[in-house]
Amino acid sequence: MPAMKNIVILISGRGSNMQAIVEAARAEKWPAKIAAIISNRADAGGLDYAAAAGIPTAVVVSKDYPSRADFDAALQAQIDRFAPDLVVLAGFMRILTAPFVEHYAGRLMNIHPSLLPSFPGLATHQQALSFGVKVHGATVHFVTADLDHGPIVAQAAVPVLPDDTEDALAGRVLEQEHIIYPRAVRWFVDGRLTIEDGRVHLRGPAA
Ligand code: GRF
Repeated sequence: MPAMKNIVILISGRGSNMQAIVEAARAEKWPAKIAAIISNRADAGGLDYAAAAGIPTAVVVSKDYPSRADFDAALQAQIDRFAPDLVVLAGFMRILTAPFVEHYAGRLMNIHPSLLPSFPGLATHQQALSFGVKVHGATVHFVTADLDHGPIVAQAAVPVLPDDTEDALAGRVLEQEHIIYPRAVRWFVDGRLTIEDGRVHLRGPAA
């Protein structure tokens, strides 16, 4: 029986990806515990879900700290109270400093709503529509100091339809996020991921 892995999830808003991971972990009985849900916003809707699900929550508000480095240090202290094997960024809308990212090297994941390396940054669905791409999607990646450019764990593609609005495309991508993020976290929990030369290798079947 593999040892239980501790997962801490960071959110800034509704937390639908966090919810998908919590529900998959419970439904599939992962050898893992969602140890805490931590947000940089006290009004994050996902905190209500986490509390109702009986998961410890914490809030670290950036304006309470004089610098980005001080905020990241406080956030790291909160996270490390739960001794995480994996830290999952799920709709977490902060750019993290290099010392923070280094501290969690190889055990810090993020989901980005585009097929990286296309469309890093914000408003990715608008970028996709403006560029006129025919395929768009989402990427789960390990986080490095190079924003939106860490080793890719999983991706999912969706078609861009002729009359797509930003919301319609975002919804189609989000559906795929809720599939690939729990799967990627499960692979980590099962010890099936290795990173070599900036590329992720999955041991065993991807299904
Ligand atoms: C999602 O599109 C995700 O890709 C991005 O934040 C958005 C909101 O995610 N990182 P969630 O519903 O808060 O998980």
